Amino acid sequence: MTALTLSTAGAATLRADALVVGVAKGAKGPVVAPGAEAVDKAFDGKLASVLDTLGATGAEGEVTKLPAPSGLKVPVVIAVGLGPVPEKDEAYPTESLRRAAGSAARTLTGTKKAAFALPIEASEDAEAIAEGALLGAYAFNAYRGVEKDAKNTKDGNGAKLPLAEVALLGAKPRDKAYKAAAERAIALTEEINRARDLINTPPNDLTPEAFAAVATAAGKENGIKVQVLDEKALLKGGFGGILGVGQGSQNPPRLVKLTYTHSKAAKTLALVGKGITYDSGGISLKPAGHNETMKCDMSGAAAVFAAVVAAARLGIAVNVTGWLALAENMPSGSATRPGDVLRMYSGKTVEVLNTDAEGRLVLGDALTKASEENPDAIVDVATLTGAMVMALGNRTFGIMSNDDAFRTSIHEIAEEVGEQSWPMPLPSELRKGMDSPTADIANMGERMGGGLVAGLFLKEFVGDGITWAHLDIAGPAFHEGAPFGYTPKGGTGSAIRTLVKLAERTADGDLG
Ligand code: BES
Ligand code: MN
Ligand code: ZN
Repeated sequence: MTALTLSTAGAATLRADALVVGVAKGAKGPVVAPGAEAVDKAFDGKLASVLDTLGATGAEGEVTKLPAPSGLKVPVVIAVGLGPVPEKDEAYPTESLRRAAGSAARTLTGTKKAAFALPIEASEDAEAIAEGALLGAYAFNAYRGVEKDAKNTKDGNGAKLPLAEVALLGAKPRDKAYKAAAERAIALTEEINRARDLINTPPNDLTPEAFAAVATAAGKENGIKVQVLDEKALLKGGFGGILGVGQGSQNPPRLVKLTYTHSKAAKTLALVGKGITYDSGGISLKPAGHNETMKCDMSGAAAVFAAVVAAARLGIAVNVTGWLALAENMPSGSATRPGDVLRMYSGKTVEVLNTDAEGRLVLGDALTKASEENPDAIVDVATLTGAMVMALGNRTFGIMSNDDAFRTSIHEIAEEVGEQSWPMPLPSELRKGMDSPTADIANMGERMGGGLVAGLFLKEFVGDGITWAHLDIAGPAFHEGAPFGYTPKGGTGSAIRTLVKLAERTADGDLG
């Protein structure tokens, strides 16, 4: 991955292949942001007017490349838009810094070393810039040839390799808060990028068994206990939901438990992830046009996995248990049929009316299992419904909960870490739509409010009295449009920053 250093050098003295500065949108045109004073000086104080002439406005996402004047030790200056100039005495929003750093890092593919001279007032700003740069520099080229060119800047297909090194200027390398910020950014973004790799890995390679093996290896490396229930153990344990979804596939299901404990922990958080390594829909097969990206249906499990490993690497003083409900949803002679009744781990029976509503079946079992340990809170993460994408679009995840205050806390935490989310209700009148003439509940209900119906289904499998929230990340988990900010095409790593911050808040005793 891209390396990060905190540098004490000034913007005019550091040697690099490129220098990144910020430009904001002012009332009368572009405004050079703090951090770039020395660069502006090298432009004879005319950087803003040069940018204006080039058509730059300072809008978010804008990137302008300039040849560097003499006086700088870099060949190019890259001006990235930060959006509006903040009100007097206000700092730039951390998410603006994160996105600008990401946009800059994306344009710097094929570059060895870039210095970032963006506005930094506090360690939080340095952290956001580091996160944005390290996330923006991400590329998935595991399947794109191994031959590299002589300069080692391109992959086998001639695509430029990610930016190799980021030097952050304006951060204080000897200050404890800044050092911690850099370390946190590195650990967090490495785990987010690993989750992105898992999401992007084609489903013929990332089977439930392969995912479990990755989790086992990462657990060993990071002092996390990993237990894997294979199909035999799942059968013995009565995990009818996970088995029912996985039984149509040649690649058998797994339930993976990751246990991170901290000696000073007062609280335990359980995280549950939907890990459908491929969702064909099963016998209720998805039509062409709706299945090409369904390798992303394990993004919830990838987020949970990343969050547990990040919590361990950061030594957060909370116990975190991660549950990865892994299965492949395929049609075959052994697949669950619409009309079948499954007996869930909880003992409840479910009439499967639509085999494409499989996420709630694997999650139901995992939620019941997680509840047995009576954690202080359970959060599940899932690419659960197309209805949530209809409701909130491609960039915002929905939050449902049996506890309004907990739902609000998660929404606020997501906002703070720069993830778009929105609280959604669990209207009890939607429950009767899932009444079944044959079983305790059906896996489908009314079409309208389908995301909330799915949430109500999950709620039935959460232990009594346990605080629980459900994050439906079907929209933001996988990005199909053009990259923006630090968000690449493909797997995004949605919800990971929110989960890690939630773990930190829980450790600090800020929640319930
Ligand atoms: N994995 C899908 C949901 C999904 C849709 C994720 C789009 C990412 C992008 C889920 O398993 C599914 O198929 N849900 C059905 C449920 C329905 C059959 C009740 C849906 O949303 O159509
Ligand atoms: Mn499905
Ligand atoms: Zn699915």
